[in-house]
Formats: sequence, C-alpha cells, structure tokens
Amino acid sequence: MITLSACPCLLRSWFGYLALTALCLTTMRSSSGQTMEDFDSIQLATLKNSSGMTVKVTNYGAIVTSIVVPDRQGKLADVALGYNRIEDYINAVDKPYFGAIVGRYGNRIAKGKFAIGGETYSLAVNNGENHLHGGVVGLDKVVWSLKPIVVPGAQAVQLSYLAKDKEEGYPGNLQITVTYALNNQNELKVDYLATTDKATPVNLTQHTYFNLKGEGEGDILDHQLMLNANAYTPVDAGSIPTGEIAPVKGTPFDFTTLKPIGRDIDQAHEQLKFGMGFDHNFVINRAPGDASMQLAARVVEPKSGRVLEITTTEPGVQFYCGNFLDGRLKGKSGKAYVKRGGFCLETQHYPDSPNQPKFPSTILEKGKAYSSSTVFKFSVQ
Ligand code: GLA
Repeated sequence: MITLSACPCLLRSWFGYLALTALCLTTMRSSSGQTMEDFDSIQLATLKNSSGMTVKVTNYGAIVTSIVVPDRQGKLADVALGYNRIEDYINAVDKPYFGAIVGRYGNRIAKGKFAIGGETYSLAVNNGENHLHGGVVGLDKVVWSLKPIVVPGAQAVQLSYLAKDKEEGYPGNLQITVTYALNNQNELKVDYLATTDKATPVNLTQHTYFNLKGEGEGDILDHQLMLNANAYTPVDAGSIPTGEIAPVKGTPFDFTTLKPIGRDIDQAHEQLKFGMGFDHNFVINRAPGDASMQLAARVVEPKSGRVLEITTTEPGVQFYCGNFLDGRLKGKSGKAYVKRGGFCLETQHYPDSPNQPKFPSTILEKGKAYSSSTVFKFSVQ
C-alpha cells in the first residue's frame, strides 16, 4: 500500500538559510503488489512556509496532491482535489488529471494532427477524435525525477522529465523541468522550462482542481470569479476552437467583474452546451506578444474568505468548472467529488494552436528555450 499522506516529515537542513522551514521528502514504498515498476521511485515532497501553508507534490505526473491554506479565521483546509493513495491517481475512472502537469500539449489538438515545415504528424487520439492533454500517457502519467532546489525565500522542488522523440506521436526529444516554489507570502510559483532537438508543439499547464471551501465540500458554483479577459475562443461540439476570438460582453462568459460561477452557467447558450458548462479558453487582456506576468484570474469564496489570485506569462487560461465530475470519485477525506466540485484555471496557450494560424504560436524550435511561469497566490478577505 502506498500512502501519500503518511509523510514522516524529515527536517532537511542542507538548505542553510532555508532551514527555518521544513522540507519533507519521503520515498514511497509499495507493498500492494501493484505492477507499476516505478512505484519504488515515487516520492512525495512537502513544502511548508512560515504562514502555515503546505503544498505536497509527487513525482508521479508532477502532481500537486494537496494545498493546505488558512481561512479568514485561520482554520486550515486542503483546497486541492486529489487522493491519499498513488493507486487512486493511477486507476481513477475518467482520468480527471487532478493536480497534474499536463502536456506536451495541454488541451486539445484537432484530430491529433498538425504539420511543421511541411511534415504532418499524428498524435495519440484520446478524446473522441481529438488529442487531449498530451495523449494516452501524457506527462500526468509518467514518473518524473524530483529534487529539492534552492530558491531564495522559498521552499522548492524541481521535477524533470525527458519526453522522447515520437512519444505519443510528438517530434523531438523534449527535456522538461517544472519547479514548484512556495514562499512565505502564500504564493506557489510554477516555472516551466523545456528544450528540444526538433521543432515540436509545447503547451504545458497545471491541472489542479480547487475548491476554496475545502476538497469534497460540495460544488464551487458559489465561488466568485473574475477573469481578466475581454474575449474567449469559442469551440465546436468537440471543444476545438472555431478560430474566432469572441468578445465576452453580453454573454455568460463575461467574468470581467467578480460574479458567482453558477450565476449564468445554465443559460441557453450554445457554447455552454458544447462545454457542458464552462470549459473554455479565455484570452488574457495583454498587448500582443507581451509575456510579462499578468493577472489572469481572481477567485473569492465568500464563506471562508479564501481568495486565489493567478498571474501568468501565458496568453490564455482554460476555465473548466469540473463539469465531468459526477460523484463517483471519492477524495482525500472520503467525500464524493460531485459535479462541479472543483474548478481548474489552466494557464496556457490557446487550444489547437498548431492548426490555428491566427493564434500565438506554440512551436518550440530546436535551440530555443520554452519558458513559462504562473503564480497561485492565496489570501483571505
Ligand atoms: C480540461 C479540458 C476538459 C476536461 C478536463 C479533464 O480542462 O478542457 O474538457 O478534459 O481537462 O477532465
């Protein structure tokens, strides 16, 4: 049995000036006869800060398994959906990508096909006729290597993975590193870096489902959301963008000021039918080509007072409100994850960009570096 939660926090002191806070890194061991060869190398790292916030990360799928933050009374709750046992991540029905890094291409590529320099590539197709989140065995289902690293003012781990040439159909050997760093301002920073030996599409993102009341505490329709986006990319019935960049004004997609997620979700709007609710890429307000850190989203949970603010270098954010959860999955505290029991804000480039000439490019050329950052900041009001 692998128990991710049983982490006997070892205080590592090699960090010198970081020694005030504890980083616990434990190797998980399997005794349950599971066949996955890599079980013995599955690790769980716990990042802690001086404000009482804790983030747990495993090297299976680079998954954030837990984010514990205080409410306005100082009461702690785990606001990230997930499991206690690694087996549950591996065997989950419908593979919801809880907490994982998804890619090489987060989101969809139409029919799993694209061309670079006249050569056509065919990717694994795993979402109807389309490619989703890197394929059948995407980055969320592989074992990464994990090591603690020194990041001034934060506790941090770095995860690395070499996605091989032709893996899930993608061209090029892609060397990826993802860093999770937790500072004392309750900011979890995620930095992505990648290099390739052949031009390839790259669109990495983080797929945590949040419920700011606490995981398993019902649905998130009462959370208030602001998206810093005057436009979104409408999709067809298979959730592939039509290519249009449509204004949100006057539609249920207008989150330009805080409003409850559930307020307009049942409106008779074709896009809401296609997504079974919100499952759309929003175009973050910024000048074309600007890749500085910009506010993408602000979420307020009125009862607990917990606030989540997301800033990113990415041009888009996929707002998915857990439409496909249906109560079958039970999470860390044994409670069922009901429909819309969590929301994801996946900072990213737009879906299907390799086939959409008007969207910002997602092709990483040989010799160039892919670099992207997102900060998840927690506070209370
Ligand atoms: C993304 C997609 C959704 C769904 C979830 C995982 O957010 O846009 O359609 O696939 O991942 O269930």
